Amino acid sequence: MGKILTVCNQKGGTSKSTSVVNLGAALQLMGKKVLIVDMDPQGDASTYLGFDDENADTISQMIERFIRGEQIDLHDIIQVSEKNGGVEYIPADLSLAGAEMYLVSVMSRETVLRRLLSTIRDEYDYILIDCQPSLGVLVLNALVAADGAIIPAQTQEFSRKALKAITDIIGQVQATINPNLKLLGILPTMVDNTAMSKDTRKVFEENYGELVFPMNISRSVTAAYSSKEKKALCFKANSKLGEEYRQFADEVVRRITA
Ligand SMILES: Nc1ncnc2c1ncn2[C@@H]1O[C@H](COP(=O)(O)OP(=O)(O)OP(=O)(O)O)[C@@H](O)[C@H]1O
Ligand SMILES: [Mg+2]
Repeated sequence: MGKILTVCNQKGGTSKSTSVVNLGAALQLMGKKVLIVDMDPQGDASTYLGFDDENADTISQMIERFIRGEQIDLHDIIQVSEKNGGVEYIPADLSLAGAEMYLVSVMSRETVLRRLLSTIRDEYDYILIDCQPSLGVLVLNALVAADGAIIPAQTQEFSRKALKAITDIIGQVQATINPNLKLLGILPTMVDNTAMSKDTRKVFEENYGELVFPMNISRSVTAAYSSKEKKALCFKANSKLGEEYRQFADEVVRRITA
Protein backbone atom coordinates (compact mmCIF):
# COMPACT_ATOMS: atom_id res chain seq x y z
CA MET A 1 0.00 0.00 0.00
CA GLY A 2 1.27 3.48 -0.85
CA LYS A 3 2.68 5.68 1.88
CA ILE A 4 0.97 9.01 2.48
CA LEU A 5 3.25 11.83 3.63
CA THR A 6 2.01 15.21 4.78
CA VAL A 7 4.21 18.29 4.60
CA CYS A 8 3.02 20.87 7.09
CA ASN A 9 3.89 23.88 9.19
CA GLN A 10 1.33 26.50 10.19
CA LYS A 11 4.00 29.13 9.69
CA GLY A 12 3.92 30.68 6.25
CA GLY A 13 6.76 30.55 3.75
CA THR A 14 8.84 27.72 5.19
CA SER A 15 9.31 25.92 1.83
CA LYS A 16 6.41 23.49 2.23
CA SER A 17 5.25 23.67 -1.38
CA THR A 18 8.79 23.77 -2.76
CA SER A 19 9.66 20.73 -0.67
CA VAL A 20 6.55 18.78 -1.69
CA VAL A 21 7.20 19.30 -5.40
CA ASN A 22 10.91 18.53 -5.17
CA LEU A 23 10.47 15.54 -2.88
CA GLY A 24 7.87 14.27 -5.34
CA ALA A 25 10.26 14.81 -8.25
CA ALA A 26 13.12 13.10 -6.41
CA LEU A 27 10.96 10.08 -5.55
CA GLN A 28 9.78 9.89 -9.15
CA LEU A 29 13.44 9.89 -10.26
CA MET A 30 14.01 6.95 -7.90
CA GLY A 31 11.42 5.07 -9.93
CA LYS A 32 8.56 5.50 -7.47
CA LYS A 33 5.04 6.28 -8.58
CA VAL A 34 4.07 9.59 -7.01
CA LEU A 35 0.88 11.58 -6.51
CA ILE A 36 0.99 15.09 -5.08
CA VAL A 37 -2.20 16.32 -3.43
CA ASP A 38 -2.56 20.07 -3.08
CA MET A 39 -4.57 20.91 0.03
CA ASP A 40 -3.76 24.61 0.04
CA PRO A 41 -6.28 27.10 -1.41
CA GLN A 42 -3.27 29.15 -2.53
CA GLY A 43 -2.60 26.33 -5.02
CA ASP A 44 1.16 26.93 -5.06
CA ALA A 45 2.13 23.29 -5.59
CA SER A 46 -0.43 23.06 -8.42
CA THR A 47 0.96 26.16 -10.11
CA TYR A 48 4.52 24.86 -9.68
CA LEU A 49 3.45 21.63 -11.38
CA GLY A 50 1.98 23.58 -14.29
CA PHE A 51 -1.74 23.64 -13.45
CA ASP A 52 -3.45 26.40 -15.43
CA ASP A 53 -6.89 25.09 -16.36
CA GLU A 54 -9.42 27.38 -14.69
CA ASN A 55 -12.28 25.11 -15.70
CA ALA A 56 -10.84 21.89 -14.31
CA ASP A 57 -12.31 20.44 -11.14
CA THR A 58 -10.04 20.46 -8.12
CA ILE A 59 -9.89 18.77 -4.74
CA SER A 60 -12.52 21.09 -3.26
CA GLN A 61 -15.27 20.01 -5.70
CA MET A 62 -14.41 16.38 -4.92
CA ILE A 63 -14.66 17.00 -1.18
CA GLU A 64 -17.98 18.80 -1.61
CA ARG A 65 -19.47 15.99 -3.73
CA PHE A 66 -18.11 13.33 -1.41
CA ILE A 67 -19.72 14.84 1.66
CA ARG A 68 -23.01 15.20 -0.25
CA GLY A 69 -22.85 11.43 -0.67
CA GLU A 70 -22.34 11.51 -4.44
CA GLN A 71 -20.39 8.82 -6.23
CA ILE A 72 -17.00 10.26 -7.12
CA ASP A 73 -13.87 9.10 -8.89
CA LEU A 74 -10.66 10.93 -7.98
CA HIS A 75 -9.15 9.86 -11.30
CA ASP A 76 -11.41 12.47 -12.90
CA ILE A 77 -9.29 15.29 -11.46
CA ILE A 78 -5.79 13.80 -11.47
CA GLN A 79 -3.41 15.82 -13.64
CA VAL A 80 -0.05 14.83 -15.08
CA SER A 81 2.92 17.21 -14.88
CA GLU A 82 4.69 16.58 -18.17
CA LYS A 83 7.60 18.90 -17.33
CA ASN A 84 8.21 16.97 -14.15
CA GLY A 85 8.73 13.43 -15.29
CA GLY A 86 5.02 12.70 -15.38
CA VAL A 87 4.45 13.24 -11.67
CA GLU A 88 0.70 13.09 -11.07
CA TYR A 89 -1.14 15.60 -8.92
CA ILE A 90 -4.53 16.62 -7.63
CA PRO A 91 -4.83 20.40 -7.95
CA ALA A 92 -6.32 22.92 -5.56
CA ASP A 93 -7.51 26.45 -6.06
CA LEU A 94 -9.13 29.25 -4.06
CA SER A 95 -12.46 27.42 -3.92
CA LEU A 96 -10.85 25.21 -1.26
CA ALA A 97 -10.94 28.21 1.07
CA GLY A 98 -14.65 27.46 1.62
CA ALA A 99 -13.91 23.97 2.90
CA GLU A 100 -13.49 25.05 6.51
CA MET A 101 -17.09 26.24 6.32
CA TYR A 102 -18.70 23.34 4.51
CA LEU A 103 -16.86 20.75 6.58
CA VAL A 104 -18.04 22.24 9.86
CA SER A 105 -21.29 20.33 10.02
CA VAL A 106 -19.98 17.07 8.53
CA MET A 107 -19.73 13.91 10.64
CA SER A 108 -16.13 12.73 11.08
CA ARG A 109 -14.95 15.77 9.19
CA GLU A 110 -11.29 15.07 10.02
CA THR A 111 -11.36 11.79 8.09
CA VAL A 112 -12.77 13.03 4.77
CA LEU A 113 -9.42 13.15 2.95
CA ARG A 114 -8.37 9.78 4.39
CA ARG A 115 -11.57 8.21 3.07
CA LEU A 116 -11.12 9.89 -0.31
CA LEU A 117 -7.49 8.81 -0.74
CA SER A 118 -8.22 5.23 0.36
CA THR A 119 -9.82 4.72 -3.06
CA ILE A 120 -6.53 5.33 -4.91
CA ARG A 121 -3.64 4.82 -2.51
CA ASP A 122 -2.87 1.35 -3.83
CA GLU A 123 -1.99 2.85 -7.19
CA TYR A 124 0.96 4.87 -5.87
CA ASP A 125 4.17 4.29 -3.96
CA TYR A 126 3.97 7.76 -2.40
CA ILE A 127 1.19 10.28 -1.99
CA LEU A 128 2.50 13.67 -0.81
CA ILE A 129 0.13 16.26 0.64
CA ASP A 130 0.95 19.97 0.61
CA CYS A 131 -0.73 21.91 3.44
CA GLN A 132 -1.71 25.52 3.82
CA PRO A 133 -0.05 27.55 6.59
CA SER A 134 -2.69 26.97 9.27
CA LEU A 135 -3.76 24.46 11.89
CA GLY A 136 -7.31 24.24 10.60
CA VAL A 137 -9.51 21.38 9.49
CA LEU A 138 -7.76 20.87 6.14
CA VAL A 139 -4.40 20.36 7.83
CA LEU A 140 -6.07 18.04 10.33
CA ASN A 141 -7.46 16.04 7.40
CA ALA A 142 -3.99 15.80 5.89
CA LEU A 143 -2.51 14.55 9.18
CA VAL A 144 -5.30 12.05 9.76
CA ALA A 145 -4.75 10.64 6.26
CA ALA A 146 -0.98 10.33 6.63
CA ASP A 147 1.55 7.68 7.56
CA GLY A 148 4.25 10.30 7.97
CA ALA A 149 4.57 14.02 8.63
CA ILE A 150 7.43 16.26 7.54
CA ILE A 151 7.88 19.77 8.92
CA PRO A 152 9.97 22.14 6.81
CA ALA A 153 11.24 24.90 9.10
CA GLN A 154 13.18 27.85 7.88
CA THR A 155 16.37 28.76 9.65
CA GLN A 156 16.13 32.49 9.09
CA GLU A 157 14.45 33.05 12.43
CA PHE A 158 13.78 31.19 15.64
CA SER A 159 10.46 29.52 15.24
CA ARG A 160 10.48 27.39 18.35
CA LYS A 161 6.91 28.33 19.24
CA ALA A 162 5.71 27.50 15.75
CA LEU A 163 7.41 24.12 15.90
CA LYS A 164 5.87 23.37 19.27
CA ALA A 165 2.38 24.16 17.97
CA ILE A 166 2.62 21.83 14.97
CA THR A 167 4.35 19.00 16.86
CA ASP A 168 1.68 19.27 19.59
CA ILE A 169 -1.07 18.87 16.98
CA ILE A 170 0.75 15.89 15.47
CA GLY A 171 0.95 14.38 18.97
CA GLN A 172 -2.79 14.88 19.45
CA VAL A 173 -3.60 13.25 16.12
CA GLN A 174 -1.34 10.30 17.01
CA ALA A 175 -2.97 9.97 20.44
CA THR A 176 -6.50 9.98 19.09
CA ILE A 177 -7.54 9.40 15.53
CA ASN A 178 -4.36 8.25 13.74
CA PRO A 179 -1.94 6.23 15.91
CA ASN A 180 -0.24 5.17 12.66
CA LEU A 181 1.12 8.69 12.06
CA LYS A 182 4.88 9.03 12.41
CA LEU A 183 6.67 12.36 12.67
CA LEU A 184 9.42 11.73 10.13
CA GLY A 185 11.32 14.85 10.94
CA ILE A 186 12.01 18.54 10.73
CA LEU A 187 13.71 19.74 7.56
CA PRO A 188 15.84 22.89 7.98
CA THR A 189 15.21 25.06 4.93
CA MET A 190 16.63 28.30 3.51
CA VAL A 191 19.92 27.56 5.22
CA ASP A 192 22.79 29.92 4.52
CA ASN A 193 26.16 30.81 6.02
CA THR A 194 24.85 33.29 8.58
CA ALA A 195 25.25 32.75 12.31
CA MET A 196 21.45 32.97 12.60
CA SER A 197 21.00 30.05 10.27
CA LYS A 198 23.56 27.87 12.07
CA ASP A 199 22.22 28.82 15.51
CA THR A 200 18.66 28.02 14.49
CA ARG A 201 19.63 24.57 13.26
CA LYS A 202 21.36 24.03 16.61
CA VAL A 203 18.22 25.08 18.50
CA PHE A 204 16.15 22.64 16.41
CA GLU A 205 18.60 19.87 17.31
CA GLU A 206 18.61 20.78 21.01
CA ASN A 207 14.82 20.52 21.05
CA TYR A 208 14.19 17.66 18.64
CA GLY A 209 17.46 15.68 18.46
CA GLU A 210 17.61 13.19 15.62
CA LEU A 211 14.17 14.19 14.42
CA VAL A 212 15.98 17.01 12.65
CA PHE A 213 16.94 15.71 9.22
CA PRO A 214 20.75 15.48 8.87
CA MET A 215 20.74 17.45 5.63
CA ASN A 216 19.90 21.10 4.99
CA ILE A 217 18.05 22.72 2.12
CA SER A 218 20.13 25.77 1.21
CA ARG A 219 18.81 29.22 0.55
CA SER A 220 18.96 29.82 -3.18
CA VAL A 221 17.14 31.97 -5.66
CA THR A 222 16.99 28.92 -7.93
CA ALA A 223 14.01 27.80 -5.84
CA ALA A 224 11.93 30.74 -7.03
CA TYR A 225 13.18 30.39 -10.61
CA SER A 226 12.24 26.75 -10.64
CA SER A 227 8.66 27.39 -9.53
CA LYS A 228 8.40 30.12 -12.16
CA GLU A 229 9.61 27.70 -14.84
CA LYS A 230 7.28 25.04 -13.40
CA LYS A 231 10.08 22.54 -13.32
CA ALA A 232 11.41 20.92 -10.14
CA LEU A 233 15.05 21.49 -9.27
CA CYS A 234 15.64 17.74 -9.26
CA PHE A 235 15.06 17.68 -13.00
CA LYS A 236 17.71 20.32 -13.65
CA ALA A 237 21.32 19.43 -14.34
CA ASN A 238 23.85 20.54 -11.71
CA SER A 239 21.26 21.96 -9.34
CA LYS A 240 22.61 22.14 -5.79
CA LEU A 241 19.11 22.26 -4.33
CA GLY A 242 18.04 19.42 -6.61
CA GLU A 243 20.85 17.27 -5.20
CA GLU A 244 19.92 18.26 -1.64
CA TYR A 245 16.31 17.24 -2.26
CA ARG A 246 17.46 13.92 -3.72
CA GLN A 247 19.43 13.20 -0.56
CA PHE A 248 16.44 14.26 1.50
CA ALA A 249 14.22 11.85 -0.47
CA ASP A 250 16.61 8.96 0.29
CA GLU A 251 16.37 9.77 3.99
CA VAL A 252 12.57 10.08 3.85
CA VAL A 253 12.33 6.62 2.28
CA ARG A 254 14.68 5.26 4.95
CA ARG A 255 12.66 6.80 7.77
CA ILE A 256 9.20 5.81 6.53
CA THR A 257 10.24 2.21 5.91
CA ALA A 258 12.25 1.88 9.16
N1 LIG B 1 15.50 26.98 -0.41
C1 LIG B 1 14.98 28.16 -0.77
N2 LIG B 1 15.78 29.25 -0.96
C2 LIG B 1 15.26 30.44 -1.32
N3 LIG B 1 13.96 30.65 -1.54
C3 LIG B 1 13.11 29.61 -1.37
C4 LIG B 1 13.57 28.32 -0.97
N4 LIG B 1 12.49 27.50 -0.88
C5 LIG B 1 11.43 28.23 -1.23
N5 LIG B 1 11.79 29.50 -1.52
C6 LIG B 1 10.91 30.61 -1.93
O1 LIG B 1 10.27 31.09 -0.76
C7 LIG B 1 8.90 31.34 -1.01
C8 LIG B 1 8.05 30.43 -0.12
O2 LIG B 1 8.29 29.08 -0.48
P1 LIG B 1 7.11 28.03 -0.50
O3 LIG B 1 5.96 28.55 -1.27
O4 LIG B 1 7.68 26.72 -0.88
O5 LIG B 1 6.77 28.04 1.07
P2 LIG B 1 5.43 27.52 1.77
O6 LIG B 1 5.83 27.07 3.14
O7 LIG B 1 4.76 26.53 0.92
O8 LIG B 1 4.56 28.85 1.85
P3 LIG B 1 3.03 28.94 2.35
O9 LIG B 1 3.09 28.87 3.84
O10 LIG B 1 2.55 30.26 1.84
O11 LIG B 1 2.30 27.78 1.75
C9 LIG B 1 8.68 31.08 -2.49
O12 LIG B 1 8.82 32.28 -3.17
C10 LIG B 1 9.81 30.12 -2.86
O13 LIG B 1 10.20 30.21 -4.22
MG1 LIG C 1 2.79 26.47 0.28
